[in-house]
Amino acid sequence: MKTAIIYATRSGTAEKCSAKISEMLSGESTVVNIKKVSSPDLSGYDSVIVGASIRIGKVQKEISEFVQKNLETLKAKRLGVFLCMGAGEENFNEYLSQNFPKEFLDKCKSKGFFGGEFNLERLGFLSKMMLKAASKGKPQPHIIPGNIDRFVKDFED
Ligand SMILES: Cc1cc2nc3c(=O)[nH]c(=O)nc-3n(C[C@H](O)[C@H](O)[C@H](O)COP(=O)(O)O)c2cc1C
Repeated sequence: MKTAIIYATRSGTAEKCSAKISEMLSGESTVVNIKKVSSPDLSGYDSVIVGASIRIGKVQKEISEFVQKNLETLKAKRLGVFLCMGAGEENFNEYLSQNFPKEFLDKCKSKGFFGGEFNLERLGFLSKMMLKAASKGKPQPHIIPGNIDRFVKDFED
């Protein structure tokens, strides 16, 4: 099984999770930053994992455009999707359905809620201010390694 992990990140969390998935998959895999490679060639892959992070309720536009543009090709492959986010798991399905077509989500073999991180050192002034205001008094999020394990297991099962 050959897998392409196509991700978008703002401050590195989704990138870290993509590298972790790639390390854990038993077959061959390639990690692609969609902001650097906007039209990856999917023809050599039987499986595609799409990953992104949430900012003000939305995934990076490069990722939603990639899924929209390649929907028919993607539907013929084994699919997985994951999100990095600061909010709790109760928001996960809503974020998925607001950001991806139902046709795509219905075909995903595994859907990963991976938690998130606040990487303040990689954010600009405005983002930092927004994040501080929105997260005041709330616990800091973290990546949930057990959810990445389960995601990979479900994906390969
Ligand atoms: C400006 C900003 C807005 C954010 N908005 C949301 C949000 O609406 N919902 C959420 O769950 N997390 C939100 N987050 C948290 C990020 O999803 C979290 O920090 C994630 O780990 C970022 O992943 P990345 O480094 O791959 O971009 C926001 C973070 C920032 C900096």
